[in-house]
Formats: sequence, structure tokens, C-alpha cells
Amino acid sequence: MPRVLISDKLSPAAIEIFKRRGIEVDFRPGLSPAELRAIIAPYDGLAVRSATKVTRELLDAAPGLKVVGRAGIGVDNVDVTSATARGVVVMNTPYGNAITTAEHAIAMIFALARQIPEASASTKAGKWEKNRFMGVELFGKTLGLIGCGNIGSIVADRAVGLHMKVVAYDPFLSEKRAVEIGVEKVELNELLERADIVTLHTPLTEQTRNILSRQNIARLKRGVRIVNCARGGLVDEQALAEALQSGHVAGAALDVFETEPATDSPLFALENVVCTPHLGAATAEAQENVALQVADQMADYLLTGA
Ligand code: MLT
Repeated sequence: MPRVLISDKLSPAAIEIFKRRGIEVDFRPGLSPAELRAIIAPYDGLAVRSATKVTRELLDAAPGLKVVGRAGIGVDNVDVTSATARGVVVMNTPYGNAITTAEHAIAMIFALARQIPEASASTKAGKWEKNRFMGVELFGKTLGLIGCGNIGSIVADRAVGLHMKVVAYDPFLSEKRAVEIGVEKVELNELLERADIVTLHTPLTEQTRNILSRQNIARLKRGVRIVNCARGGLVDEQALAEALQSGHVAGAALDVFETEPATDSPLFALENVVCTPHLGAATAEAQENVALQVADQMADYLLTGA
């Protein structure tokens, strides 16, 4: 009977699936790297979210490991090169939290357009500052999508429903697909020059790192708003802070940061910045989806493919 270790907080649905499929499963979230290395040897599969770092050292301590399953999209916490070199398959769940993450991006766009977090804090403080919070409508505005894959295309769909004009930069987006989802495919420079709001939906790769660099932020329209629910490292945070202070960027909403957990940042002190602690995938529905999907995929592999 194959054995799987779940080392992060995964929905109990995953445990049920493994058991039902005849796989022995242990649920041990919160172990230190040393503790994990000490117990990993007998397992065939390791199921993680983002807290466990699947390093070369951990893989060295796991000679029987056949599969690492990431309940979520990004595999940034897995050393995929080292895993592949050892014949360990790395799998993710690319669809399970796409709607939830797209909805978070839309929520961030609304939060920025109407300054909801600041207005809420002010009202709760008893100030009733009705004249302070003048917002902007989304109707008719141009949304610039950097990345138009699983998540970006759902954001596009919702934005079209809000009667926004959507332009997308994504080298993998075909003209046909762009037409199907109601977006205009553009080059990055055109997007930077046209967007009223820019939202990022791309993984962090050598090509996308710092895609909103100081230079590219300077190319954006004055008064632009920026949303990042994808990955820290896509935006130059220091340059963004300066552009917010100068008023070139009117607001930014960030769910992800270059260093996480982000407990200190030049952005935190700025009034026109909304921050959440990497909550993009944090809904009950998405966590259930990714847990079910990762457990089924890992079970399929361990029972038939490994
Ligand atoms: C993902 O890659 O699935 C999201 O960023 C969510 C997460 O890391 O928990």
C-alpha cells in the first residue's frame, strides 16, 4: 500500500480521498524542515500547499519518494529541477483556485476604485468623512491584463461584465482566443500606455520577473492603479512606492510580495495601498477543490503510473 504524507494544512477532503483510494496517509502539518527530513524516508508521496519547502535536502532524505503534489497553482516552493533529476514527479492543480484568485483580483480593483478599506477604517473611527473618499467608476475604463491564462481570462470575463475595455499582454494568448474571451491582445508597451488599471496574472519566471520595473512603471498613464494577486517579484516594490508617493500611480492593491511573509514594506505606510496576506486562493471552495484534485491526481499516479 503506497504511503502519503500531507505536510501542510490541507482540507480533510484530501485525507478521505487517499483513504478511499487505498492509500495510507499521515497528516503532519507544521513540522520544521529538520523534523520533516527525519520522517520523510518511508513515504511514496508528499502533498503540500505553500508552507513546506521541498528542497534538495528534503528530496535527498526521501529515497522512496515518487510524487510531490502541490495543492495550488505555483510550484515556487518545490525544487522542481532536483525532483526531476531524482525521478520524482511534481504535480499541481492549475484550475482548482483560479476562480477564487480571479475574484480576489476583482475585489482588489473595487477596493482601489472606491477606497473601501480606508473609508471603512475612517467610518469605524467615527469620522464620517463623506467628502474625503471620491472614487472612480470602472465602467468604460481600460483594464490591462499582464497574463491571460486560467486566472487572467476569468478576470477578463468579469471585467467585460462590468463593461470595462480589456487589453491583454500574453505571448501565449492566440488572437482567436483573445476574440473568444472579448479582450484585445496587445504588446506590453501598448498596455502600459493605455491601461487605467493594470492587473498581473502571470507566474514568476526569468521572463516576467520585474515586468513592472521602474522603467515600465514610468511608462504607465498618470493616475493608473495596479493590482498584483499573482506573485511578488513581478513588480519593483521600491519603484512602486516612489510612484505612489509622487502621485504617478494613484493606488496599488497587493496580495503578494517579494518576500513572504511580508511584515515590513515601504508600501505599508502609504494610504493609497491595499494589502492582503497572499489570500488569493483562500476560500473554502478553492481549498476544497485543490485538496480533492491533488489527492485524486496523486492517487492515480501512485496506483497506476508510478
Ligand atoms: C497558488 O499558487 O495556488 C496561489 O498563489 C495560492 C497559494 O500559494 O496558496
